[in-house]
Amino acid sequence: MSTHRTNIPNSLNEHWMPFSANRDFKKNPRLITGAKGVYLKTHEGNTLIDASSGLFCNPLGHGREEIAEAVSKQLRELDFVLPFNQGFGGSFELATRIAKNTPDDLNKIFYTICGSTAVDSAIKIAMAYHTSKGNKKKFRFVGRDRGYHGMNIGGLSVGGFNNYKEMCKSILMPGVQHMRHTFLPEHKFIEGQPDTGAEIADDLETIANKFEGEIAACIVEPIAGSTGTLIPPKGYLNKLRKICDKHEILLIFDEVITGWGRTGSAFAAQEFGVTPDLMTMAKATTNGVVPMGVVAARDGIYESIVNAAPDGAIELFHGYTYSGIPVAVAAALAVQDIFEKEDIFKRVKEMSPYFQDALHSLKDLDCVESIRGYGMMGGVDIRMKDKPGKAGFQIYKASYANGVNFKATADALVLAPPYICEKKHIDEIFDKLRKSIIQYMKQ
Ligand SMILES: Cc1ncc(COP(=O)(O)O)c(C=O)c1O
Repeated sequence: MSTHRTNIPNSLNEHWMPFSANRDFKKNPRLITGAKGVYLKTHEGNTLIDASSGLFCNPLGHGREEIAEAVSKQLRELDFVLPFNQGFGGSFELATRIAKNTPDDLNKIFYTICGSTAVDSAIKIAMAYHTSKGNKKKFRFVGRDRGYHGMNIGGLSVGGFNNYKEMCKSILMPGVQHMRHTFLPEHKFIEGQPDTGAEIADDLETIANKFEGEIAACIVEPIAGSTGTLIPPKGYLNKLRKICDKHEILLIFDEVITGWGRTGSAFAAQEFGVTPDLMTMAKATTNGVVPMGVVAARDGIYESIVNAAPDGAIELFHGYTYSGIPVAVAAALAVQDIFEKEDIFKRVKEMSPYFQDALHSLKDLDCVESIRGYGMMGGVDIRMKDKPGKAGFQIYKASYANGVNFKATADALVLAPPYICEKKHIDEIFDKLRKSIIQYMKQ
């Protein structure tokens, strides 16, 4: 009999856990044995409220019957299709439905496996676009400090977490430049978009002038998520757009976290009124239950690449075995149905002020250094203790013990509850979080 259903495995030794303190975990394991709605069950029989939608993955809550049904039906009817030069109806239907939600003419939908592969695909599409225009000099990409774009080499290169890059710095993409991040000292407890800081976008102008004609694309998360929710200053994204237009630089929005309603609009692009040329998404696309990533491209980008290739030839030498596999498509279509039926983005808009008030109520706690938030996402910086990350990890563990689950990046607590949360759930999250922070302060 398969052992993967037992609550406590016989051995914890063989599974090398990703992004984890393996030795610490194996001494004190935290196993999740079940999930329904906004709650998780632990192997010790405790209940946790999910304050981070898994990892920004499950905004519709856990254990959605409609998604489970769609996935299981799909597996029985058609489990796999060779994705190159053949297909099945579902992936085309899903592309049409995604394109209805993306802004303006971002109507061409390229499937990948996850957020990292979406970012690396967007980088390649940008290169293919400039090549199709005969622009072979453009090879540089611009990212931003504190940006996170996944763990593949492209995303790592444009990302702005230096400690993640250290071990492979000799094999990163050449020519990448970074802008400064947008978090200024005066933004510490601001609700929503800061009024100051739009001029930081001029970093792109400086880089574009220095490397005139060489910049292929600039990639940013509209709200930097993994780094602890850095909200773009008013006018900042518009400025980036203008500079990109002036220098024929493609603008890529990485909406792996902000996509599918987190801000209250389908995408942050619409929320902030700025249309990129390429947009990545993943996570909530399938409510996190089957891996899937997506790149949405402007019609003109697709046409330029496709028309540059000889008739009958493959136009873009790129794709994955699991690009748009039936089971991921089935989950994503079920998610689209729920978004529409439950008018989910409107719900986020309505619940956001309550969430934001609760988030900012932590301001009085002595060790809280900064709070930022937008829509149904928030970041809380805890004052560093001894070394970076220790405070965040300790509060995360105390919170787990007190019944609330979320992710900490270094000393930033990253909060992003499911959209289906009711006010009482938000109260529960912040009551438990406050208790955990106070406990930590007394240690
Ligand atoms: C903005 C952004 N881009 C890319 C990724 C990478 O996604 P994945 O872990 O699915 O590869 C993430 C993951 O958190 C992300 O937040």
